[in-house]
Amino acid sequence: MTLRQLFLRFALLVTCTVPCLAGDDGATILTPLPPNAPFQVPLPIPPTLQPTSSDETTDYYDVTMQVGQVEILPGKLTTIWGYNGRYPGPTIVAHRGRRAVVRQTNNLPESMSVHLHGGHTPPESDGLPLDLIGPGAMKTYTYPNNQEAATLWYHDHAVDATGRHAYMGLAGFYILHDEYEESLPLPRGENDVALAVQDRIFDYSGALVYPLTDTTIRTGVYGDRLLVNGAPQPYFQVARQKMRFRILNGSNTRQYIFALSNGDPLVQIATDGGLLGAPVSRPSITVTSGERIEVVIDFAQYPLGTSVILKNLDTTGTPVIADVMRFDVVREADSPDESYVPKKLRPMERISPKEATVNRTFTLQQTLYKGRQIWTINGQLYDPTRVDARPKLNETEIWTFVNNSGQSHPMHIHDIHWQIIDVNGVPPEPGDDGWKDTFNVPVGGGVVRVIGTFTDNLGGYVTHCHKLEHEDHAMMFNFAVEP
Ligand code: C2O
Ligand code: CU
Ligand code: CU
Repeated sequence: MTLRQLFLRFALLVTCTVPCLAGDDGATILTPLPPNAPFQVPLPIPPTLQPTSSDETTDYYDVTMQVGQVEILPGKLTTIWGYNGRYPGPTIVAHRGRRAVVRQTNNLPESMSVHLHGGHTPPESDGLPLDLIGPGAMKTYTYPNNQEAATLWYHDHAVDATGRHAYMGLAGFYILHDEYEESLPLPRGENDVALAVQDRIFDYSGALVYPLTDTTIRTGVYGDRLLVNGAPQPYFQVARQKMRFRILNGSNTRQYIFALSNGDPLVQIATDGGLLGAPVSRPSITVTSGERIEVVIDFAQYPLGTSVILKNLDTTGTPVIADVMRFDVVREADSPDESYVPKKLRPMERISPKEATVNRTFTLQQTLYKGRQIWTINGQLYDPTRVDARPKLNETEIWTFVNNSGQSHPMHIHDIHWQIIDVNGVPPEPGDDGWKDTFNVPVGGGVVRVIGTFTDNLGGYVTHCHKLEHEDHAMMFNFAVEP
């Protein structure tokens, strides 16, 4: 079925259930607007959020979730739901050892929950799916920032509606620094750039279209064009020097295999939970929904006038989209570039499987429920009142995810970071062996074993598939850390 047929077939459904995606006049034009030629617009850099106030220990922020009108496609205004009305939201820059307190006000017509993805956060500030902020209400989230420097992101997590809310624009970066990371000679400041890669569909009026159907609940929603920091396949003018890029797969479902068009490797320095033990040169890097990588690209190796495209080699997405963005080398470095990638980054010890006291297995499968095939974990749908695992504080556990379904599932575990022991019995290759909170469980009977220790926080959290349509249709379970 073509996208056009898909839209015509489900026009009624979309019009009725998702009025917020229609134009202001209520007229929904469901024919998707064909993508423009790539590399027509510059890369936007989301602004850094300034604290409302600060004291010795804490920075206090205020954010309002609200409707915004933004120019995403040249010459068209798109209605988004955004943190401070922006898409992506403003970037929060935090420092280990300093608390960040974020007061979120919900001026949108639906209930919201703000989750800090990758945050080692007590449950009351984690942004759990049922910890909702009603329209007109506010909630204050406290982030202790007692974890290693990493690229985190915040996004909506309202139960059953996360996919649509995030798609409407409710996502932003949360960059955590620490002293050790700052002591390394990596590119910093303006040469440290976060890139949120997301796919979207627009109609001819410029409105976002979220085609949630019986089919896309199963496949996940794929957009027909890629946005980076809210701009369609942008270009980015760079100097002949090293740049650090924090790349987030902020797409609802799509997976990316990032690579450079000239065949040069990407030098990976970090993953979800922060720096790797050592940098690794990789010809391509696979990033599933919710995962982050950090890479350094040395543009000094290219003559002025060179363009390098960040490619997506993945061919499982529908439609396939090969170009992410383009780097244009347009000037010499403003000052001598003293940054470099050291041979060692952050010392990281592998946790021995012998340290684990408990092993748990979670099987991802398709189950018939009310006449419909639906994704489940151990045959069960999410039930907010059921707790499927009760790990003990400071204990180490091995969790095994078994994929008995016809589709890959990027699994995400709240609260702590994990090490991958193996995928189908094979230890992870360098780059995938860092601290992870999201990892793909591959199709075709894939088995992933991860090991982690439940430190600091007691209480309830969730684990779920980060294909957001799967999550919203109950591919999730509760766990509770107990004393
Ligand atoms: Cu990025 Cu529980 O989500
Ligand atoms: Cu999360
Ligand atoms: Cu899934």
